[in-house]
Amino acid sequence: MEITLSAVKADVGSIGGHIRPSEEMLARIRDFLSREGGGVLIDHHVTHVGDDICLLLSHREGVGNRAIHRLSWEAFRVGARIAKEEGLYGAGQDLLKDAFSGNVRGLGPGVAELSLEERPGEAFLLLMADKTSPGAFNLPFYLAFADPMTCPGLILSPRLGQGFRFTVMDVAHPEADRVIELSAPEDLYDLAALLRDNDRFVIERIHSRASGEQAVACSTTRLRNIAGRYVGKDDPVALVRVQRDFPATGEVLAPFAIAHYVPGFMRGSHVGPLMPVRAGTAVSFFDGPPVVMGLAFSCHQGKLAGPVDVFDHPFWDWVRARAAEKACEIRRQGFSGPAMLPMAELEYTGIADRLTALEERFSLRG
Ligand code: 13P
Ligand code: 13P
Ligand code: MG
Ligand code: MG
Repeated sequence: MEITLSAVKADVGSIGGHIRPSEEMLARIRDFLSREGGGVLIDHHVTHVGDDICLLLSHREGVGNRAIHRLSWEAFRVGARIAKEEGLYGAGQDLLKDAFSGNVRGLGPGVAELSLEERPGEAFLLLMADKTSPGAFNLPFYLAFADPMTCPGLILSPRLGQGFRFTVMDVAHPEADRVIELSAPEDLYDLAALLRDNDRFVIERIHSRASGEQAVACSTTRLRNIAGRYVGKDDPVALVRVQRDFPATGEVLAPFAIAHYVPGFMRGSHVGPLMPVRAGTAVSFFDGPPVVMGLAFSCHQGKLAGPVDVFDHPFWDWVRARAAEKACEIRRQGFSGPAMLPMAELEYTGIADRLTALEERFSLRG
């Protein structure tokens, strides 16, 4: 039986700044999905990290389905309405258009969706990050799906050993989706050459070459391309199927122990370490640090079992402590050099105006 998993996330308002949504928003969104989703959903789970809410929906309607997308849009509108009533910050922040037009893609929310022929013991991860952008998943997914130093399954399992096909999107091309397909291991260096640029090239999908099945779906929304101005970072969400023809759960999680530096953090304009946290964690220090949460699910005929919070384990306390050190280390140099994003990626125009105003005060000597 073909099942579709849709993970739709949006920031529709939060308490005390860009910190976390309110309990009332979450409760009303859950009520709405239970009430209105009956006809089309098999199951659902609502979670949050930082100021972002994610709806995980299982159904049989396929990818990009109008009814599913409308339901998600309406659920976020309910959340935004509560946020407004409660006077929360950025109420409706990611709902960039007034009217629903068939698909939430292009309206603000981030979407990761995939259809699957359910395997016996279907297992998958929902990963969601706040105060960063979709490129934050480039390195972890490269390591989990293409590097045997991280994913021993690539040399131990003949099926995984056939490699994976990566679909990479150029998110600096708002006119149309500009994508390229590269296969690991043959195209490894080409893949690395693209993925090193977290701001521009983003993994959208990964397929198993052994089975042809899709393993990964990642949101690639670029809010700036939709709104034409800074409206918050494009905090990403991803679905990752695990085990059998795919990396094991632990192989997918392993790269997050690096707490690698990603774009985002304060005002979406800095660089900070990606800290793995429990679901529902708020952000704090310097509107960050950038955070990633992970929930593991099993699925039978679309019914979800779990979740298990994969970063709720003593091991990750040590990683979090290291991430905090890395955050403080880079923050010590303030605005200087790589601590702040390059001009083209800054989410505010103030600095460009400032530099333009200084132009006439420059003089040529000699
Ligand atoms: P605003 O620019 O909407 O105030 O949001 C950015 C922010 O709060 C930075 O901390
Ligand atoms: P969000 O994108 O999570 O709303 O954060 C915006 C921001 O500017 C934080 O400083
Ligand atoms: Mg926000
Ligand atoms: Mg956010």
